[in-house]
Amino acid sequence: MSDDTTAGTLTIRDVETGDEAEVRRLVAAAFPSDMEARLVEKLRHCGALVLEQVAVNADGRTVGHIAYSRVTPAAIGPGQGLQVACLAPVSVWPDNQRQGIGSALITASLNRLKELGEDLVLVLGPPSYYPRFGFDPVLARKVQAPYAGDAFMALALTEAGSRDLPIEVAFATPFEEFE
Ligand SMILES: CC(C)(COP(=O)(O)OP(=O)(O)OC[C@H]1O[C@@H](n2cnc3c(N)ncnc32)[C@H](O)[C@@H]1OP(=O)(O)O)[C@@H](O)C(=O)NCCC(=O)NCCS
Repeated sequence: MSDDTTAGTLTIRDVETGDEAEVRRLVAAAFPSDMEARLVEKLRHCGALVLEQVAVNADGRTVGHIAYSRVTPAAIGPGQGLQVACLAPVSVWPDNQRQGIGSALITASLNRLKELGEDLVLVLGPPSYYPRFGFDPVLARKVQAPYAGDAFMALALTEAGSRDLPIEVAFATPFEEFE
């Protein structure tokens, strides 16, 4: 099902069949190499994506993309029943950056994840950017993962997401080459 949200002239919707080639070009252009574009395709092909959305402008151009993949809590402990997702990557075409597209995409997709029943979202990224959406490096210290430090942040979308911690988690297999 597609979830459409219009922020100004921007439409944010789920990725559809036929978007893949443009998404690959966009993600490869946003980052220094095509590593993140390949990560998105691997996550998609192994069925690890929880949510994948694009931002489309008034001209019909796909200007932004975001992907969330499944993170698996360890089989023991109070957090074993939590639904945990990882935000990675988020991309905006270089000539469209700093116009609010990334923020609109992140805000809309987090709302969608909440509707989908996700409890906790993890991200590894600039500590100057993600806290504005509620991501918190202090909360992430209760999540044992291959990542640590202030760039590793967490956002609880439900009460259980902050209550049923600490947890140990495993990321989807395609992340192994990023560790
Ligand atoms: C990060 C990204 C998705 C943000 O999207 P955007 O549409 O440019 O961002 P917005 O216009 O919504 O927000 C702009 C704000 O983001 C900040 N920002 C953008 N990229 C940033 C980065 N890599 N690190 C820190 N802050 C960043 C800007 O400084 C600006 O902050 P301000 O509001 O305090 O001035 C986009 O810049 C991008 O695709 N960058 C390259 C790929 C990347 O680094 N992805 C994230 C990796 S986790």
